[in-house]
Amino acid sequence: MSAAGPGPGPGCLVLALETSCDETAAAVVADGREVLSSVVSSQVDLHARYGGVVPEVAGRAHLERILAVLEEALEGAGLPLPGHRSPGAALGGPAGAIGAVAATVGPGLVGALLVGISAAKSLALAWGVPFVGVNHLEGHLYASLLEEPGLELPAAVLLASGGHTLLVEMDGPGSYRLLGGTVDDAAGEAFDKVARYLGLGYPGGPAIERAALEGDAAAIAFTRPMLERGLDVSFSGLKTAVVHHVRAHPEVPTPDVAASFQAAVVDVLVHKALAAARLVRARSVCLAGGVAANASLRERLADACALEGLHVFLPSRAMCTDNAAMIGAAAYFRLRSDGPTPLGAGAEPTMGFPPAS
Ligand code: KG4
Ligand code: ZN
Repeated sequence: MSAAGPGPGPGCLVLALETSCDETAAAVVADGREVLSSVVSSQVDLHARYGGVVPEVAGRAHLERILAVLEEALEGAGLPLPGHRSPGAALGGPAGAIGAVAATVGPGLVGALLVGISAAKSLALAWGVPFVGVNHLEGHLYASLLEEPGLELPAAVLLASGGHTLLVEMDGPGSYRLLGGTVDDAAGEAFDKVARYLGLGYPGGPAIERAALEGDAAAIAFTRPMLERGLDVSFSGLKTAVVHHVRAHPEVPTPDVAASFQAAVVDVLVHKALAAARLVRARSVCLAGGVAANASLRERLADACALEGLHVFLPSRAMCTDNAAMIGAAAYFRLRSDGPTPLGAGAEPTMGFPPAS
């Protein structure tokens, strides 16, 4: 439908929605750089009893929460929706102030994605502004640019989330090169699966991290998979090694298993991030994605970068895990380079990286 029109003007406010997995999030971002508001409603409690994200439960919860989250984000930015609580009241407040409405279009759970996409398209239509569909993985890359506007580029970014583990060279907004990634399980997926196996609950990353605090990371010498093999990573074998070890040695305390497993994952990630930085002569190394909330990874990466004289930037934990501010930033630059996304575009659950322009 809509084709590339004039780019966003100065002071352009983007209202962004993120509903790709188990966080319902909305944010208002100015000029792709300044976060005016960011609201995240986590569904962790809803899914914990099932030991993982249940797609139908996620979609329904997004639907129940999206309006309240959206309203809070608009209010936080000083743009309340006038009278939306009174049935039939016209949408009028943010109209004229919001320059574009964005939503994550993939990768993610289709039923979850569609909630954010439908809401964003409806608002874009009602307000007569462009709709922008955003690649969730591209969104994660903006964590560092949003929190460190002076980030020295190029940056080597380690993006480690529940579904993806990628090493990306970033030269600036919209300019990326994929350097490597997982050939099987993502780092977060490995944390989640091992935590489930050890009976530590969901989400697995924080559960493993907590258990590891009481354990000895040197207790079990798990292999460091694919350490010397380019910039690809693999965590499936490590996960199997944990299972075999626990079966063979049921007496080993769970915190020791958790700490040793975490140490192996962190070793591999730090090693690969530094290898990527050397390869592209990066001026900074950054983290992104939910696994970047891991304190051990953050510490070890910072230490390793300091040893090599590399600048490291670690975005706040809130910016590393799923949020809509990163989607708003990505949307602004996508709108500038590619124009609006056609309203006929749908969800792309298996969308890859890098995003095509
Ligand atoms: O980026 P994210 O919030 O959602 C996706 O896009 O997938 O990442 C979620 C993943 C989950 O696998 C979760 O276990 C992991 O990030 N995670 C962590 C930690 N916090 C979240 N992994 C290790 N340590 C943590 N502290
Ligand atoms: Zn994510």
